[in-house]
Amino acid sequence: MTATQTKDLSVAEAIETRVSIRKFVQEPMDQGDLHEILRLAGLAPSAWNFQTWRFAVVQNPELQAKLQEAAYGQGQVTSAPAVIVVYSDMEDTIATVEETAHPGMGEEGRAGQRKTIEGAFGGQDVAQRGQWGLSQANIAFGFLMLAARSKGYDTVPMLGFNPQAVKELLGLPDHVQFAGLLPIGKRAENGFSQHRHSVERVTKFY
Ligand SMILES: Cc1cc2nc3c(=O)[nH]c(=O)nc-3n(C[C@H](O)[C@H](O)[C@H](O)COP(=O)(O)O)c2cc1C
Repeated sequence: MTATQTKDLSVAEAIETRVSIRKFVQEPMDQGDLHEILRLAGLAPSAWNFQTWRFAVVQNPELQAKLQEAAYGQGQVTSAPAVIVVYSDMEDTIATVEETAHPGMGEEGRAGQRKTIEGAFGGQDVAQRGQWGLSQANIAFGFLMLAARSKGYDTVPMLGFNPQAVKELLGLPDHVQFAGLLPIGKRAENGFSQHRHSVERVTKFY
């Protein structure tokens, strides 16, 4: 929670008040809040509980300036006190899958997770299974935005960047896939109001 917000927003309030913010108040992130927001994002569900998402948090103006260059000059990358890079690492997920077994399931659960992941992805190439890993990381990306808003912070999701350049800047392996960059901080502008399709436009009821 921030100094100006004493109570977390409800999920509905967080959804209603989340809009993309591209100008932020110039003050560092509260590190406790940042940690809590990341913890909440990690409570996202994933198939077989594989938790393919990984986070890289950048709070270094020099590195942010380089990230901004990789993001075609988009100003929000340096305006925000922090940028959370959300990516999936399916190769790390495979290598360490036993960690994702529920402790209640004991050794059998750990062996089961290994068998499951090898059965499902052993026959796929790195790019194919990486794509699947990304579909899971995107869920955490959504949770992250709402967790941030519920704690009084604002964000803007971004895919407008050169992924190769970001991998090089952060020293990430080539196989990772990005859910997006997420500049985060307190809003210094209101952003555009939400403009969305109606339920009827995008839904068929059977
Ligand atoms: C996956 C994704 C990628 C996006 N990439 C960018 C981006 O590179 N730069 C940017 O300014 N906004 C980006 N946006 C923000 C969208 O423009 C914005 O979410 C959309 O217009 C709806 O507005 P709202 O977020 O304010 O509700 C992105 C949004 C998503 C979900």
